[in-house]
Amino acid sequence: MSADLAKFNAAQAALEFVKDGMIVGLGTGSTSAHFVRLLGERVRQGLRVKGVPTSEATRNLAEQAGVPLIEISQVSAIDVDIDGADEIDPDFRLIKGGGGALLREKIVAAAAKRMVVIADESKWVETLGAFPLPVEVTRFGFALTQERVRAALGEVGCKGSTVTLRVSGKANEPVITDGGNYILDAHAERIPNAEALAGALQSVAGVVEHGLFIGLAQTVVLGKAKGAEVKTR
Ligand code: A5P
Repeated sequence: MSADLAKFNAAQAALEFVKDGMIVGLGTGSTSAHFVRLLGERVRQGLRVKGVPTSEATRNLAEQAGVPLIEISQVSAIDVDIDGADEIDPDFRLIKGGGGALLREKIVAAAAKRMVVIADESKWVETLGAFPLPVEVTRFGFALTQERVRAALGEVGCKGSTVTLRVSGKANEPVITDGGNYILDAHAERIPNAEALAGALQSVAGVVEHGLFIGLAQTVVLGKAKGAEVKTR
């Protein structure tokens, strides 16, 4: 099965959560990109919405797709946030940030009345952790923060984890987020207690945000080869 078709099917099914007049959080990543383009089609057909993008990449895409945007500073709440995920567990805990947009994604998700996660069904896992957990950190002192993040993982049952600085390009330059920070990827393989790890990471100086999204998603739309399955808590 094509993962991209399943992503498209998830994005299409999520349109049902968008109603006329809503303020809509626009996620980041390939699945969210399908959603933004589909939303643009609906806007051309007369749907009135305003989007709050979770990254500069999504802002550019939404502008191209014709989705009207509003600055997050201009809204007091977001009606629905539609965003992808790297992993989803049966309690709707997520790993996000594979695309590096976790900070804005979490701010938008936390401000939303409903977060709808759209993903192909391969993202559904019994236990989080096979996908490396992104952790956004300040550039200042990042090597010290990297060591403390590794220690925090060990304290909550993820012993032996490695923590790497995310780099890209031929020159292996560090990836810089929209917020001007670095990203560490925590290779835990398995996260037995996501709540404990979230708490431990929050207490590390230099950590701006981590990619564990706990208690934020109410709905998961899992795209399949044909159609999509909607799960709600
Ligand atoms: C972006 O920072 C991420 O949180 C994405 O939502 C996540 O990586 C899913 O991306 P895909 O939709 O491309 O799989």
